[in-house]
Amino acid sequence: MERTQTIHYQEYTLNELAAADRALIDAAIEATDTAYAPYSNFHVGAALRLADGTIVKGSNQENIAYPSGLCAERTALFAASAQHPGVAIEMLAIVGRNPEGVLTAASPCGACRQVMAEQESRQESKLRVLCYYSADKILVFEGVESLLPFIFSM
Ligand code: THU
Repeated sequence: MERTQTIHYQEYTLNELAAADRALIDAAIEATDTAYAPYSNFHVGAALRLADGTIVKGSNQENIAYPSGLCAERTALFAASAQHPGVAIEMLAIVGRNPEGVLTAASPCGACRQVMAEQESRQESKLRVLCYYSADKILVFEGVESLLPFIFSM
């Protein structure tokens, strides 16, 4: 029997977002400056807002032995977990900067989605994800289920 699963997300322009959400995008844009990406020249910034208002930033950190590097999202998620244990993460904003220096989309990879899923189940509350595509197009996911359907569980 064929079945269909629908994924829900919202699309906003930068101006339509709440000020706190715009500020998180700005923090993610700032974080692109700390990327270490000499191999791809693709700079990714991530910024998390914790339940206590703290903002934690991350950026991609590459390595000459490619798999040893890490995406911006996991850099930020693991930093938050290590430095602010037990504090829920409300929101994650992600922005890419291409080799020409232009802001562009960075939709999270599968491994980062899996780590977001684990964080959500640990904190027992939704983790909103904001993906910047352009100033006219910001996708908002109200939880990881929309980004990773049929999440692994035991
Ligand atoms: N990258 C991220 O940091 N986040 C994403 O969502 C996708 C890709 C990084 C990994 C690598 O350093 C570079 O972008 C190119 O793949």
